[in-house]
Amino acid sequence: MPISLVKLNDGNSIPWIGYGTGTALFKQDCEKLVVSAIHSGFTHIDGAQMYSNENSLGAGVVSSGKSRTELFVTTKLLQLGPGQSVRDTLVKSLQELKTDYVNLFLVHTPTNFVGRLKETWKEMEAVKAEGLAKSIGVSNFRQKELEVILGNATIIPAVNQIEFHPHLYKEERELVEYNRERGIVTSSFGGLSPLFRSPGSAVDELAKSIAARLSKETGQAVSDSQVLLLWAKKRGIVVITTSTKTERMKEYLHADKLPELTDDDVASIDEAGSLETHRHFSGFYPKD
Ligand SMILES: NC(=O)c1ccc[n+]([C@@H]2O[C@H](COP(=O)([O-])OP(=O)(O)OC[C@H]3O[C@@H](n4cnc5c(N)ncnc54)[C@H](OP(=O)(O)O)[C@@H]3O)[C@@H](O)[C@H]2O)c1
Repeated sequence: MPISLVKLNDGNSIPWIGYGTGTALFKQDCEKLVVSAIHSGFTHIDGAQMYSNENSLGAGVVSSGKSRTELFVTTKLLQLGPGQSVRDTLVKSLQELKTDYVNLFLVHTPTNFVGRLKETWKEMEAVKAEGLAKSIGVSNFRQKELEVILGNATIIPAVNQIEFHPHLYKEERELVEYNRERGIVTSSFGGLSPLFRSPGSAVDELAKSIAARLSKETGQAVSDSQVLLLWAKKRGIVVITTSTKTERMKEYLHADKLPELTDDDVASIDEAGSLETHRHFSGFYPKD
């Protein structure tokens, strides 16, 4: 069965779950893992110029044997060198990725474009108009940076990719709502953090108990990780996860086939998540 799609504001669609080539795969040759991810069923691969592995990501896409049109490939604009345009960097990425277009091109962080966000977004609009990126969006943007580009935008960002999990629910719920009201799809990274990066919390305990109940109800093994993926899915949030292990790749993908969480499950995870705040990826998050 195909992976659920989320509609973007420009008419394109994005697979609800994506395989990331950052974090553990940062600066690593990710060809074999990208092939495994695609063979496990991922159709959405999340890359970035910053990860310095677009070349092996592209090799993985080619080696997988999947047709390019069946895949959704993202990369992200890191920064601009002297005299370099957004288009220049994207053309270089496309060469490395061995493709004529990306499905999604994101401004990786507002912090590398302070004072020139509006101009940068105009250049993003131009690469979409040229067809080099089918959709454009942003990452690590707060409301205040979104307001800067929206004031002058012809194209509204399709996606805002942010760190989001129950331990950031209280901090980020207004931003998620702000995105939603403007037709911007929120995409999350770090979604499994309450289980592995700050374990032992009320969220960890609750995710395990909901997983145990769902296992009984469905007659199949449901994991705490799947519960957190379903928590994001219920909100219409696209999740970017990753793994070096094929079993986990399949487990995460299988979350798409599980029944959705109840409203009570979601509310209790929101509440448990709000007891603690943890931001694990602050490198690209604006400091002011
Ligand atoms: N836009 C941005 O600024 C930004 C920032 C960060 C990440 N991202 C993107 O998001 C992607 C997802 O990354 P993420 O790390 O945030 O995903 P995540 O879903 O929060 O975590 C996945 C990681 O958890 C590990 N894990 C799973 N089960 C575990 C267990 N039982 N014990 C210990 N570790 C376990 C996995 O390692 P195994 O290999 O062992 O399964 C994997 O490295 C990245 O690759 C990147 O593409 C974007």
